[in-house]
Amino acid sequence: MAAELLDGNLVASQVKQQVQARAERLKARGVTVGLGTILVGDDGPSARYVEMKRADCAEVGIESFHTHLPAGVAEQELVELVESYNADPRIHSYLVQLPLPSGHDEDRILSLVKPEKDVDGLHPMNLGYLAMSRPRVLPCTPAGIVELLKAYGIGFDGKHAVVLGRGLTIGRPLALLLALNQPGLNAAVTVVHSRTRDLAALVRSADIVISATGAPGIVTASMVTPGAVVVGAGTSFEGRKLLSDLADDVSEVAGWVTPRIGGVGPMTRAMLLLNAVKAAEAVAGGG
Ligand code: GUN
Repeated sequence: MAAELLDGNLVASQVKQQVQARAERLKARGVTVGLGTILVGDDGPSARYVEMKRADCAEVGIESFHTHLPAGVAEQELVELVESYNADPRIHSYLVQLPLPSGHDEDRILSLVKPEKDVDGLHPMNLGYLAMSRPRVLPCTPAGIVELLKAYGIGFDGKHAVVLGRGLTIGRPLALLLALNQPGLNAAVTVVHSRTRDLAALVRSADIVISATGAPGIVTASMVTPGAVVVGAGTSFEGRKLLSDLADDVSEVAGWVTPRIGGVGPMTRAMLLLNAVKAAEAVAGGG
């Protein structure tokens, strides 16, 4: 039996409606939600992601502020731009698109973003609060995955979740998020990666598999327990074609699966908008 689809486009559009309503409420109080994007260099996928994020902003009534710097820009110029975004009251939150071109100190730049304006939840302080079980800004892809499954009535409580990948933007924070002592979370989490012995056996023991490696087709049907929930969160490209971490045959055994396009991606972008409106609400205060 073919797996049921986890439709990220559908759930993301619901989240976006909620964001739009909250942005309109702020507007009525004289506050236009502002989201900044900083792109350095000419990486094709990064440029397209930023373009999509800005189009999403326009759709829900968020004003976007954008700067594109050349790959060879001096580090000091990027630092000064980050500082100007920190100081600009119109920009409630912003992101520096990753990866930065080689030669730039990604850790340093991320740590210079004002934590309250960190729409990605990737500032060391926000990741630290998550590690301390007191999350503030949640990273967008992990939060989007939880929200997507929740919309289909799938919670993590007591389940074994296997996360493939331990990267900064997905695997690492997702593992922390899923293990939080909160209804809907409370998962038993195993993180596996390129150095894991007998990775297939561990994946086979999962109720919920989330792959965030960027290795196309790394999760195959033979690694999935029949009926399991399987989420492809890693991205890679063949030319301009987006590839999934999930092999096509996964949908023959899984109970639930994300599509190659319209699964996790739209959820990540929707959670970014949600973080943006929350950042503006935090500045505007109650009322
Ligand atoms: N590049 C890939 N994923 C992300 C993300 O979540 N945030 C930023 N800023 N860049 C990324």
